[in-house]
Amino acid sequence: MVEETPILEFSQVALSFGDAEVLKKIDLALEAGKFYTLLGPSGSGKSTILKLISGQLQADSGKIYFEGKVINDVPAEKRRVNTVFQNYSLFPNMNVYDNVAFGPRLKKLPEGEIKEKVKEMLALVKLAGFEKREITELSGGQQQRVAIARALANDPEVLLLDEPLSALDYKLRKDMQQELRNIQKRLGITFVFVTHDQEEALAMSDWIFVMNDGLIQQNGTPEDIYDEPINHFVADFIGETNIVPGIMKEDYLVHFVGKDFENVDAGMRPNEQVEVVLRPEDLDLTDIDNGKLVVTIKDQSFRGDYYEIVAVDDDLNSWQVQATNPATIGARVGLTFDPEDIHIMRYNESEAAFDARLESYDEEEAEAALQAARDDQDGSGGHD
Ligand SMILES: Nc1ncnc2c1ncn2[C@@H]1O[C@H](COP(=O)(O)OP(=O)(O)OP(=O)(O)O)[C@@H](O)[C@H]1O
Ligand SMILES: [Mg+2]
Repeated sequence: MVEETPILEFSQVALSFGDAEVLKKIDLALEAGKFYTLLGPSGSGKSTILKLISGQLQADSGKIYFEGKVINDVPAEKRRVNTVFQNYSLFPNMNVYDNVAFGPRLKKLPEGEIKEKVKEMLALVKLAGFEKREITELSGGQQQRVAIARALANDPEVLLLDEPLSALDYKLRKDMQQELRNIQKRLGITFVFVTHDQEEALAMSDWIFVMNDGLIQQNGTPEDIYDEPINHFVADFIGETNIVPGIMKEDYLVHFVGKDFENVDAGMRPNEQVEVVLRPEDLDLTDIDNGKLVVTIKDQSFRGDYYEIVAVDDDLNSWQVQATNPATIGARVGLTFDPEDIHIMRYNESEAAFDARLESYDEEEAEAALQAARDDQDGSGGHD
């Protein structure tokens, strides 16, 4: 796969503060015009990556490229990058117009051109007509829009956004997610968005980097990362999930909670120890006879469009289930799922090995194996 030069590239970029290795030889490449998200828990190194891109911090080792040229030594003000922060960092003593005009004025653009630019940017963030307002007279959401307009007025090629929505209430946050996405598409520039909210990352991004402990754990499309998490950390961090230990007995046959289950994974060593992931929305409750596992309902809460149910199997594994109908606390019921919904993770698999395994995954072969298993079951007079 050879494409155009990435707009931004990190090659083996490392950074420590004292003894603390905050970034451990990071590699990444960003294509121009896409919406990227750095997703990870507090302290994982997300803001540090943004600061290396903007020039606020210097790498200890490794190279950072912008459009193919090394920029490690290029000062921050010469980089075509701007940042929007969570706390807006607006100039409180200036009105909206002067805040947005700040960057263009530094560049000594003619005032007529600046006026046009400010008007265009305020329209983009839906604040047309707010030029004369003082910053102190704006709501938090409006201040955030001004901060975005101010950053975009500098014509950056890359816009960095460090948790820009986390101070907003739920509804406003949802609206701004959509709007930011629209602004990015409209301008066609590259966005690097930081969040620790997995739902936000899944909703907004073309591509996600999941970070933990100074390392990129996995990168891919939202679907890749949700459907095929590479390891326990990613599976657990991206959405609520059930993870139990298992053994891959042979291709398309996994053993967990004391039973064998058909599945669609192959390519592991016989009897390799694995972790088995089942998403709550892929599980169904049924009567005991039709269940693949028998569980006892322990808890449930109403979540608006579904019930979140917690059940426990006889090995005391806890199972989260999302169901449209309520269950009865204390009832013993069956738990069922499809072979396709069983996701297998190897221990300590590298991202390259993981990708190769998914790549070589043969859908026809898996389907044939499943069909054979089903025929077997029917032939031996199994349930209907
Ligand atoms: N100037 C500094 N001096 C020492 N340690 C620092 C400095 N800046 C950051 N760190 C440490 O580096 C690690 C990564 O920090 P970073 O700000 O990149 O995390 P983050 O992923 O953005 O977290 P958060 O979600 O809390 O913003 C943290 O452990 C932090 O304490
Ligand atoms: Mg941060």
